[in-house]
Amino acid sequence: MEVNNIAIIGAGNMGHQIALCAALSGFKVKCIDTNPDILNKAIQFVDNYLKERVLKEKLSQEAANQAHSNIAFVSTIEEATQNADLVIEAIIEKLEIKRTLFAELDKICPVHTILATNSSYIVSSKIADATNRPDKVCNMHFFNPALVMKCVEVVKGPHVSDETAKTVINVAKKMSKTPVLLHKEIYGFLVNRLLQATRQEALKLLDMGVASFEDIDTAAKNGLGYPMGPFELLDLTGIDLAYYVGMEKYQESGDVSDRPSPTVVEKFSKGEFGKKVGKGFYEYPKK
Ligand code: 3HC
Repeated sequence: MEVNNIAIIGAGNMGHQIALCAALSGFKVKCIDTNPDILNKAIQFVDNYLKERVLKEKLSQEAANQAHSNIAFVSTIEEATQNADLVIEAIIEKLEIKRTLFAELDKICPVHTILATNSSYIVSSKIADATNRPDKVCNMHFFNPALVMKCVEVVKGPHVSDETAKTVINVAKKMSKTPVLLHKEIYGFLVNRLLQATRQEALKLLDMGVASFEDIDTAAKNGLGYPMGPFELLDLTGIDLAYYVGMEKYQESGDVSDRPSPTVVEKFSKGEFGKKVGKGFYEYPKK
């Protein structure tokens, strides 16, 4: 199936970058958010990013203009999805909210539209049965910052058709990404399982008072060659996301070791969500 029009649901941390990435790759993109502040931030980000890329000579003015004309930010789901061949959902990590959204998408999208979720952890079989097109519901998982990170995980659960997986892989390739295909659904997919192991250990070392978060980050960068330490990365991906994901997993498993760490709970309750709010483990002065 050929994909020309993509709708992105959610213009937050991940959504607006996925949208811009798709627009830069020649897709016609509509990105929707119901929160006007988030929508305005996304519009500003796109303007600034494209200007900076041209100034840095990483992008021609013509390509920047083209990307700009390929992307529209809208405030209703109907507007975003009316011509969509592919929808990528990038909203809050709460299963019930995603299920409600997918049921609505199923009603309003054209019959051929593929409905993908960018969820970090929730496998699409938990969402697919809220629609009448389970064969067209899959995971398409990008990494933060989505404009930079090459990997996209495509998860082919038992309900997903070969054509859907193939189409989504082709879209990722056209976005200059390197897709990886998972033949089985598994919690956390590939990357977050690997990441989680490091993150859990880092939080445990911090909670035990073994070292400061700065020194744990330094150790990961200088001892393992990681581009960012686990706490810098938590600030980038969002401590609120880590909290929601931990709670979702704990509610499902009932295993206390799945609960978000005391440090994550404390940061979450103080609203210190990371880079997007100016404070997480580190402080981020406003530009
Ligand atoms: N948005 C867009 N572009 C960005 C960016 C951002 N937030 N941050 C950096 N960039 C771009 C810069 O513009 C620059 O581009 P250029 O080389 O083409 O000019 C390039 O990235 C390098 O940037 P910098 O030189 O400023 O900084 P670094 O070399 O330190 O790279 C980084 C920044 C790419 C974020 C790097 O530190 C990195 O790879 N960190 C690890 C990120 C990671 O692990 N992500 C996965 C998170 S897990 C996840 O997303 C899962 C999800 O489910 C939660």
